Amino acid sequence: MLRNKRILLVISGGIAAYKSLELIRLLRERGASVRCVMTEAACEFVTPLSVSALSEDKAYCDLFSLTDESEMGHIRLSREADLLVVAPATANILAKMAGGTCDDLASTVLLATDKDVLAAPAMNVRMWTHPATTANVSRLRNHGVRFAGPTEGPMACGEFGEGRMAEPDQIVAEIERYFGRSGLLAGRQAIVTSGPTHEAIDPVRYIANRSSGKQGHAIAAAISQCGADTLLVTGPSLEPDPAGVKVVHIESAREMHDACVAHLPVDVAVCAAAVADWRPAHDQPQKIKKTSGNPLSQLELTENPDILAAIAGAGEKRPKLVIGFAAETEDIVAHATEKLARKGCDWMLANDVSCGTDTFGGDFNEIHLVSKNGVENWPAMSKSGVADQLASRICNALSPGQDAAE
Ligand code: C5P
Repeated sequence: MLRNKRILLVISGGIAAYKSLELIRLLRERGASVRCVMTEAACEFVTPLSVSALSEDKAYCDLFSLTDESEMGHIRLSREADLLVVAPATANILAKMAGGTCDDLASTVLLATDKDVLAAPAMNVRMWTHPATTANVSRLRNHGVRFAGPTEGPMACGEFGEGRMAEPDQIVAEIERYFGRSGLLAGRQAIVTSGPTHEAIDPVRYIANRSSGKQGHAIAAAISQCGADTLLVTGPSLEPDPAGVKVVHIESAREMHDACVAHLPVDVAVCAAAVADWRPAHDQPQKIKKTSGNPLSQLELTENPDILAAIAGAGEKRPKLVIGFAAETEDIVAHATEKLARKGCDWMLANDVSCGTDTFGGDFNEIHLVSKNGVENWPAMSKSGVADQLASRICNALSPGQDAAE
């Protein structure tokens, strides 16, 4: 239900703008108020009259309109909303949003806003897959912009592919999910670990693994979007720091351990980092010299602290919910079940990494959630999908009256 929620709908100029009329209707049917800002190009596809009639409000089109600006300036438009929705979001408006251009009312409102933004892209498949758009979308995600769609299918231009605007009911579902979740973890504290660790052999070389940090970073972002005060402790990763999340960058397992333990107590900890199990036993202040024909035949290793086990065994400071990952190549569920007990955590998210780089560094993950209640098999989905699903599960588990580990 969207009762009393105020949506500022930015309609930009794509053929999918006709679907925005239905979107206005569906949102209002659910109790939301909808105020619309239209770009000049949007007015070529649908009329301000239709938009105004359906929203029962003025359609705002002009940055320099004397009447609009005196009645309702761009700052007030963006303040008097709970969420900004851009549908359709053309390649052009995404580019403007990513670059901070503000040369009309729509782009100015989007730059001036202090609210979250959900964009529903709509464009030709080539425009959607163009590296410029890909870079803009990735930049916007880093700024915290959420996306609904696009979907794949036949297009108005006669081509087929990804770039169709999500259907109005899918956009509404995304908006409902946003309002349903936001605030569910308000007042809660979370730690998420992510990425690999680097264990120095000497000042130049290190031991590491293939972790990209994609999954851990997505989880930190999703938990933070539910309102939790989130600390991400990450090893070296190319992933940008997620918006709204406090980030501590570390290199080694010992640094990750210390940063996590110092931050306890929290309500929930998710250990998604691929921590190196061992590190070189001795610190080497100088680079080990290569002597030709005489390779280093031994590297003495010692075990790293187990961060997940340390958090789960933190006594009074133990989070209500401790979640680990088990990357396995065989007998996935059996190994994860054993690991759940050995590390003393509440949930293990087991995934099959026998396909190597498909999971490490890839965008998809297939999870089996193992808990004391048994195994739940999730369908294969994107890493951000896994993050959303896990965040929803955490919201449920930490809701009042629930036993967190159930
Ligand atoms: O034992 P294994 O490395 O397979 O366990 C994986 C889980 O334990 C992951 O959640 C990982 O983040 C965590 N872990 C840890 N500290 C270690 C090793 C693993 O937190 N030293």
